[in-house]
Amino acid sequence: MPLFNEQPLKLGLFGINCSGGLTMTEAPTTYEVTWEHTTAIAQRADRMGFEALVPIARWKGFGGSTDFNGTSFETYAWAAGLAAETENITIVSTSHLPTTHPIVAAKASATIDHISHGRFALNLVMGWFTPEMEMFGVSQRGHTDRYQYGEEWVQIVRRLWTENEPFDFEGEYLRVKDAVSFPKPIQKPHPVLINAGNSPAGLDFSARNVDINFAAVDSVEKAREYATRARELAFKEYQRELSVMMSAFIICRDTEKEAQQVKQQILDHGDYVGARNLAEVLGVQSSSFNDQVHSGLDPFVLSFGAFPIIGNPEQVADKLIQLSNAGMDGVVMAFLDYNEELAYFDEKVMPLLRQAGVRK
Ligand SMILES: Cc1cc2nc3c(=O)[nH]c(=O)nc-3n(C[C@H](O)[C@H](O)[C@H](O)COP(=O)(O)O)c2cc1C
Repeated sequence: MPLFNEQPLKLGLFGINCSGGLTMTEAPTTYEVTWEHTTAIAQRADRMGFEALVPIARWKGFGGSTDFNGTSFETYAWAAGLAAETENITIVSTSHLPTTHPIVAAKASATIDHISHGRFALNLVMGWFTPEMEMFGVSQRGHTDRYQYGEEWVQIVRRLWTENEPFDFEGEYLRVKDAVSFPKPIQKPHPVLINAGNSPAGLDFSARNVDINFAAVDSVEKAREYATRARELAFKEYQRELSVMMSAFIICRDTEKEAQQVKQQILDHGDYVGARNLAEVLGVQSSSFNDQVHSGLDPFVLSFGAFPIIGNPEQVADKLIQLSNAGMDGVVMAFLDYNEELAYFDEKVMPLLRQAGVRK
């Protein structure tokens, strides 16, 4: 399983299944959500030795001039397709638990684990953007309830993956009768689980149930503090090991000045109406992005709140090395123009990461 290989800093891509990726702008890019383009990006990342492709689960865009993320590939089907088109990289599905019955999720995941020969991971999202939950006719539960529902959901999925005898489950939210699922996944005891909750309830859920937590942090110091806290919680409370990774948005050019100009261009052409819609949802309904919400809309336009790393190749490599030294096990990255900028990243940044020993 590449997500637990020997690389000190795992690298991945985030958001290549959604229009706009992580950036709410009309600034020029060749990036588009077509199957051919997505596959080309995924295969490039695979050739570069990256560990993970992490999609965004999105059912509806954020309005504004770009309808950011309004076009998106459904993430189980997307993962199945890319599993067949790649060789070594982990393919993640991101699942909104209230929209997917655990029996369907368990079987779809086992299927993708077979297609990928054990390279599948599942990112569990409790449900987050109210308009899209309403689209399903499900009301968004309160924050604590959401995680309690998730607890029942993940128990059922885990049992379907590991138990051979049919079982009944009677929870407060979910009920299954004579539940079975074959084939079992290739990975034992089951596929890698991920969660990106940063709130106390979210972190506790992660510490108890998953292998990797994704942090939404916006400085190296916060990354250090968060990684330490999350790991300690898992270890002290549940005697479990928890990996901690984060998302970042990369703008890398030959000079810092050029990189800053690209940032400015993204903001000058930014979709601030969409960003306001997003910030309103985030500000009210989650705890993970508080710092970003309070620093205005630019962080959303630029990178959906992901940590921006902007500069020349030395500066970008240096920041990634700092994050690794701060205790981050991995970074899933987004780019304005994934395919074009990945080639540049491969040529200019990867050698510096290898030189520093964070990549082998
Ligand atoms: C790296 C990362 C990836 C995420 N991916 C998704 C996603 O694909 N879909 C989604 O609705 N929420 C996504 N989220 C939101 C989280 O899953 C979570 O719902 C949010 O951080 C609020 O949880 P909290 O209030 O417990 O902190 C992501 C967050 C992070 C940091």
